[in-house]
Amino acid sequence: MVAPDDLRAQLLAWYDANARDLPWRVGPSDHAVGVRADPYRVWLSEVMLQQTTVPHAAPYFLKFLSLWPTVSDLAAAPDSDVMAAWAGLGYYARARNLLACARAVAGRHGGVFPDTEEGLRALPGLGPYTAAAVGAIAFDRTTNVVDGNVERVMSRLFAVEVPLPDAKPELKRLAASLVRDHRPGDWAQALMDLGATVCRPKSPLCDRCPISTHCAGLATGAPEAYPRKTPKAVRPHRHGVAFVLTRGDQVAVVRRPPKGLLGGMLALPTTDWRAARWADDEAMRHAPTQADWKGVGEVEHGFTHFTLTLRLLRAEGDADGVLWSARRDLDALPSVFLKAARAGLTNLI
Ligand code: ADE
Repeated sequence: MVAPDDLRAQLLAWYDANARDLPWRVGPSDHAVGVRADPYRVWLSEVMLQQTTVPHAAPYFLKFLSLWPTVSDLAAAPDSDVMAAWAGLGYYARARNLLACARAVAGRHGGVFPDTEEGLRALPGLGPYTAAAVGAIAFDRTTNVVDGNVERVMSRLFAVEVPLPDAKPELKRLAASLVRDHRPGDWAQALMDLGATVCRPKSPLCDRCPISTHCAGLATGAPEAYPRKTPKAVRPHRHGVAFVLTRGDQVAVVRRPPKGLLGGMLALPTTDWRAARWADDEAMRHAPTQADWKGVGEVEHGFTHFTLTLRLLRAEGDADGVLWSARRDLDALPSVFLKAARAGLTNLI
């Protein structure tokens, strides 16, 4: 049913008229007259967008660019500043990979990104997806850029019955069958925009889709049923206790060990996170100091692989072995701890 050349022409024409205006993007009309995207911007946006949506990532992207306008500026930044600016984006290993990559570009390549998929792939911390995306969008290399949006579009277009994640190799092959040497960067971005704005996960807008006549998923009458999914294992639930210790305007924070969940990030002092609830008496043995701890409620947080209830204990006092953060600087905490600190500081004792 899919006629690749017609389909490509229809989707590219749709992109010419409907491309989203994004801060890292050179739009199709500028691109057509030879304007090139800045590889640093493209790379930074792609790393950020691997874990979140365009509206959530955009302010972070703008903050990074104002703090570090070039990859060499980013490479020279202290780790802790970059981790703090990343706080709230999640997946903190990505921020460390980002820095490793920036330092390799600055150190080994004089601050200039390699301009091929292979050259990009050889950089530390730069995976196959990012190499394909930067290769296409910044350098117009013919690559196959497949993110979650593109997987969804392919699964519908071809009515792929194999469920995710097993379908991934097939979806990648199907995406590759539509790639040509013509306008590879615009093609990749057109597919992403289609996935984000028309071929949406829920309630796809098939009546606005420029390639709906090719779509086997639509022909089944239930395009939303694609991609098929293997039922998710239920996420386990964990419990912990977080300590909100204040000293005047300051709040006690600790730096988490470099490896593991939220590695290297600032955090509230907490107990372990485990399946069983904690009794307050037991939790207090893990407190950063002996104090008059009072329960001030709890917060819930969802991680990729588990959900967490954090009970909050609050006290005023001093402690050894902690760092002190001004309340206004708590934004440098990952979301789970920011949420806990805000609730702990607001809830009445
Ligand atoms: N999602 C991931 N990368 C993107 C890009 N370059 N444009 C739009 N959406 C995206």
